[in-house]
Amino acid sequence: MFHVEQIPIIMDYTNPQLLIDRSAVEPGIITWRSPSNIALVKYWGKHGQQLPRNPSVSFTLNNAVTDTMIEYAPKDQPSEGISLDFLFHGEQNEAFAAKIEAYLTSILPAFPFLKQLKLSIKSGNSFPHSTGIASSASAMSAIALGICTLEHRLFDTLGDDLAFDTKASYFSRLGSGSACRSIFSRAAVWGKSSIVADSHDEYAVGIESELHPVFNSFHDDILIVSKSEKKVSSRAGHALMEGNPYAPARYQQAINHLEQIMPTLRNGDLETFGNIVEKEALALHALMMASNPPYVLMRPNTLEMIERIQDYRAETKHPIYFTLDAGPNIHLLYPESIIHDARPFIEEQLVPLCQDQTYLPDWVGEGPEEM
Ligand code: PMV
Repeated sequence: MFHVEQIPIIMDYTNPQLLIDRSAVEPGIITWRSPSNIALVKYWGKHGQQLPRNPSVSFTLNNAVTDTMIEYAPKDQPSEGISLDFLFHGEQNEAFAAKIEAYLTSILPAFPFLKQLKLSIKSGNSFPHSTGIASSASAMSAIALGICTLEHRLFDTLGDDLAFDTKASYFSRLGSGSACRSIFSRAAVWGKSSIVADSHDEYAVGIESELHPVFNSFHDDILIVSKSEKKVSSRAGHALMEGNPYAPARYQQAINHLEQIMPTLRNGDLETFGNIVEKEALALHALMMASNPPYVLMRPNTLEMIERIQDYRAETKHPIYFTLDAGPNIHLLYPESIIHDARPFIEEQLVPLCQDQTYLPDWVGEGPEEM
C-alpha cells in the first residue's frame, strides 16, 4: 500500500521541561550498534536544516556498523553547555569530538538534560579504518539512538516504538541526512512522496513490510576501489547541486525513479529494479561531473568493474547490479540464489581490481540493535 493521504506534520521536539534532578539520577551506560545503508534512489541536494530536495530509498546493511557507548553521570556542578569526552577506536580524535560536541549542542533545545550530564562517548566501526567507506550514517544514527534511549530512561517518554524510531530518525538526519534511513530494518524511504505512506522530509519510514522476500537476504558487497579520502566531501557535493543546471531535472528523475522502484521492491522484478539502481548510480556521478567546478569521484577501476559486471550479467543472465555512493567504491547487489556463481566471479574478476584486494561482503540487515 503506497498511497495514503499525506498528513502534513512539522515536527517540533523542543522541550525545555526535559530536565533532571541531578541528585536523583544514577550514572549509567547505553550502547547501540547501528548500520550504514546504501541508497537505491539517491539523496543528492538539500536545503534548510538537512532537508532533502528529493525522496530516496535505501537498503539497511548488516555488517558495516558503528558501535557507540554513551556513559553518563550528573555533572558535579551545574554549568551551561556540553561536557564530553570522546574516543574513536580507543583514541582521541579531535575532529570527530568537535563534530559530536557541535551536534549535541545543536540538539540541546530538544534534549536540555544533556547539559546537566557528563558524557563519555566511545565509538568504533566494524569496517577497517580508512577504507573509503563513509561512516556518517552508522555513526550519527548510533548517537541519535543513544540520546533517545537516554531520554526514555530518564523521563519514560518514548515507550512507543514508532515514536522512538521517528524521533531517532529525525535526530539522525540532523547529524547526517542519509543517517535517518539507518534506523529501520531492511529498507527505508526518506522524503515526502505521494506513493509512500507516511513518508516525510524530516525523518525516514521503514518499508520492510512491503518488501518482496527476495530482498530480505539481498547481498550488497562493497568493493573498495580506493581507500583515499574523497577530494570533494558529500557536504560540498550537496552544496554544488544548488548551482547545477541539471538539478531541476534530477529532482524530477529521482521522484520518477522512486515511483518506478517501489513496485519492484514489492514484486521482486529484479530486472527493472537493477535498471533503475544503475541509472541512479550513474546519474549521481553525472551530476558531480556537471557541477561547477566539475569533479570526478570514480576511478579507472570503478569503470572497469562496471564493465565487467555488465558483461557478466549479459553472458550469464544473472541479476547482478552495481551502485555507487559518493565515492569510487562499487556496491554489488545480487540475490542469495546466485551466490554460488557470483562469489567466484567477484573473487576472480573484481577483487583483483580492489585496492589491497579489499572486499567487504555485506547484505540487507535488520537494523540497529541496543547492546
Ligand atoms: O548523508 P550525506 O550527507 O552523507 O549524503 C549521502 C549522499 C549519498 O550517499 C550519495 C546518497 C544517499 O542517499 O545516501
